[in-house]
Amino acid sequence: MKYTVIEVHNDRAFGKKAAQAFIQALRQYHEPDVILPTGNTPLPFYAALREMGPGKIPAFRYRQLDEYLDLWMGHPKLFLNEMKTNLLDPLEIPIRSSFNGAADPYEELMQAKKLLPEIRPAKIAVIGIGENGHVGFNEPGSSMFSDIRIVDLTESTIMANKKGWAPEDGLFPNRAITLGMMQLREAEQTILLVRGESKAQILAKALTGPVTPDVPASYLQMQENVTIVADRLALSKMPAGFNFS
Ligand code: PGA
Repeated sequence: MKYTVIEVHNDRAFGKKAAQAFIQALRQYHEPDVILPTGNTPLPFYAALREMGPGKIPAFRYRQLDEYLDLWMGHPKLFLNEMKTNLLDPLEIPIRSSFNGAADPYEELMQAKKLLPEIRPAKIAVIGIGENGHVGFNEPGSSMFSDIRIVDLTESTIMANKKGWAPEDGLFPNRAITLGMMQLREAEQTILLVRGESKAQILAKALTGPVTPDVPASYLQMQENVTIVADRLALSKMPAGFNFS
């Protein structure tokens, strides 16, 4: 497996290079559907896109990767609200599919499953990686054939994501809805964004270890057209001589 790896030295460069890689992928399609991630990692990427302003990047439609469940409407930590603030509203990007983290979870899952056959697979998936190797909320143990579904969050994900949670945000949810590995694998282009030393070990494991549901991100080894935008710290544990490209 060969990857295109773009190594950057600071967050600003990370944002710029990720935006360039993204625009290059967008240019290969006409208004593609695109899966985009939330979390801390992509923030410089979204900042770089916002700097360009509306109408400056090729048109695309947003498909939500995952969402917390059991929160209330308008909750500041709902991923969809974060995406609206960070990208969708400033750049006027249309939403192709999204999750309602305040709805009845099983109704929401049924709605999402009903929509899937009506929309074509996303052409591009931009993803992050969790310290435990998850992608979206496909936690360790997720089958490579897993579908869109409701999942219980693992303790390590709850610990990692709780950091930005304020007392007024209420109880941290322990369930989420996520696109499955199937939907991620259907993308023709994948852009993996990784920042920081805390991801170095899992990144090396995902890209050079066995392909296994224990490390859901290891599915990247089976994907065509994978671009990795990562900072030096995130790449610091890649084995010597690893064939990056
Ligand atoms: P992070 O989350 O970007 O906040 O580290 C990534 C993930 O958990 O997938």
